[in-house]
This record gives sequence, C-alpha cells and structure tokens, in this order.
Amino acid sequence: MRCIIYVFSGTGNTMLVAEEYAASLGPETHIAAIDSSFMDLPSPNGYQLVGIGYPVHAFNAPEIVERFARELKPSVHQNLFIFHTGGEGLHFNDTSSVRIRRILRKDFTILSERHYVMPYNMIFRHSDAMVKHMVTYMRKLVPLHVSSILAKRTEGMRLMPFSRIVSSVLRIEWLYAKLQGPTMRAGDSCTGCGLCARRCPMGNITVVNGRPVFGRNCSLCVRCSFSCPVDAISIGLLNGWRVSGPYEVDRVMADQTIPDTIPIEKLPRLYRKYYREADAMLGKRS
Ligand SMILES: Cc1cc2nc3c(=O)[nH]c(=O)nc-3n(C[C@H](O)[C@H](O)[C@H](O)COP(=O)(O)O)c2cc1C
Ligand code: SF4
Ligand code: SF4
Repeated sequence: MRCIIYVFSGTGNTMLVAEEYAASLGPETHIAAIDSSFMDLPSPNGYQLVGIGYPVHAFNAPEIVERFARELKPSVHQNLFIFHTGGEGLHFNDTSSVRIRRILRKDFTILSERHYVMPYNMIFRHSDAMVKHMVTYMRKLVPLHVSSILAKRTEGMRLMPFSRIVSSVLRIEWLYAKLQGPTMRAGDSCTGCGLCARRCPMGNITVVNGRPVFGRNCSLCVRCSFSCPVDAISIGLLNGWRVSGPYEVDRVMADQTIPDTIPIEKLPRLYRKYYREADAMLGKRS
C-alpha cells in the first residue's frame, strides 16, 4: 500500500512514532516532514492512505499543522489516520485535533486517532527508565494500531466534554508562541555555530554577527534549545520549564541494564491510566 505520513516534530518524538508507523505499513510508506516550506511537500494524490502526526502543545495542535491541514486537498476522497504525542496520557490531549478533524473530514475519512506518551520536552525531564518504558510501549502499540487502520476500522477517536471550548481557549498558545519568539536568547556560552538556525523548522532564527536572533514565527517546538550543543538557549518566560538537551533514545533502548518497562503500580500516578488502557489494548490486561 502506498502511504504518505506528514509529520511535524520539534524534538524528534513524533518523528520516532512516524518511523514506527512507516515500518509497520511497509516499504511504500513515505514520511514528509512539515516545516515552514510545507507547500513544497508531495501531494497526497497517488497514495492510498494518508497519516498526519504532531506533538500536542497546550492541548492543541501546533498552528503550522492546522495551516498545513487546510492546504491538504486530495483530488479524490481518501482514508487518513492521525497520531499525536504528548508528555502525558490525559485523554484531554485528544482535544488537540478538534479543529484539524473538522478541516480534514471534508476530503478524508478519518479512520483512527491515537495518542502516544513520549518523553516530555517541556516541564520536566524523564528518567532513562521512563524513556525506555514509553518508547517500548509505543513500539508495541503502533503495529496494533496499524492493523486496525489496514482493516479500515474506525477507532480511537474520543473527545472529552467541553473539549471544543478548552481547545479554543488554549489556542492562546499560538499567539504566545509568536510573542515568545523574540524573547528567546542565546547566552554567553553560544559559539555561533548556527546549528539552531539550520534546524529550526519555522526558519525563525538568523545568525547575525555570530549570534542567533529569534523572530516572531516561532512554533514553540523547542528544537533549537534541545539541539544546542552548549545548551545556550533560554526560551523566554517558559525557561523555568526548559528541558535541557535531547533524550538519548538509541542509547537508552540499547542499554540492557534498563528494564524494558516499569510495572504499572510503580509508575507516577499520572501515567497509570494510560498504560492500563495500553495493556488492555495489547491483550494483557493487568
Ligand atoms: C509548548 C509545549 C506545550 C506542550 N503541551 C503539552 C500538552 O498539552 N500535553 C502533553 O501531553 N504534552 C505537552 N507537551 C509535551 C510534548 O507534546 C511532547 O514532549 C511531545 O512528544 C514532543 O514531540 P516532538 O519531539 O515531536 O516535538 C508540550 C510541549 C511543548 C514544547
Ligand atoms: S546552536 Fe547554540 S551555540 Fe550554536 S548558534 Fe545556536 S545558540 Fe549558539
Ligand atoms: S525558534 Fe526554536 S522553538 Fe521556535 S520554531 Fe524555531 S526551533 Fe522551534
């Protein structure tokens, strides 16, 4: 089956999930990264299945994902699946898709929507054990979800009460992202290497006189601060929640001293419901 997955990913979590979907869907799956030049991405025509993935930001999809969804116009009605990642598994994260679902359902049959808990890139850093637990579960769940998609079962779409209202209120994050851009700074340890500017998916950073300058086109994806080799970037008002530096997922997954998963009763309370539901889905109800 020819499939295209459009994915926006700030710090790599959602891209990891997209790669897992691609591995399960087979070799004819193409991953297209959404960035500020998304108009150049391949159209969905000629594909039999379309996926869209994004990180949840303040219970919303990042603005660029909604803008992208508005431009996604296949010539014939197509099947589509949505997935998103977040630092926790609250059902409220499904609120994030309310608006893009409304946009997409004109041209697509939305077969499934799934939320994957991945390491938080904001608020706090997870331990290596927690990272392994999250990635291990995600890798078990995706093939299961893909088999539902291929069987054309409509699954996984749930909305909490008041989700439309909450989603609308929290869209203030989009405005905040624009205001916050210019408040970002590179500190004295900046070497002027320009990596942050090359990696910014929004083209929001320019290097002027050897120093990065941040514009108003920020999506708050925090890729710049994660990527900076000397951890020099302060992210404005949110700096107190900054998670410095990337998670080393490959190292953690290869480390045999770290157990694959953590027993549910030993997980922080916030995560237990999500993983109980995941276990039920995987057929080993605990
Ligand atoms: C500005 C911002 C807001 C976030 N808001 C939420 C949220 O509402 N719910 C959630 O579960 N995670 C939230 N997160 C965490 C990310 O969604 C999570 O770490 C995600 O997996 C990052 O994906 P990425 O690496 O593909 O960008 C937020 C992260 C950022 C940077
Ligand atoms: S990646 Fe870090 S060190 Fe390099 S230019 Fe950006 S802020 Fe400076
Ligand atoms: S400036 Fe940083 S946080 Fe903003 S879009 Fe670019 S990489 Fe993401």
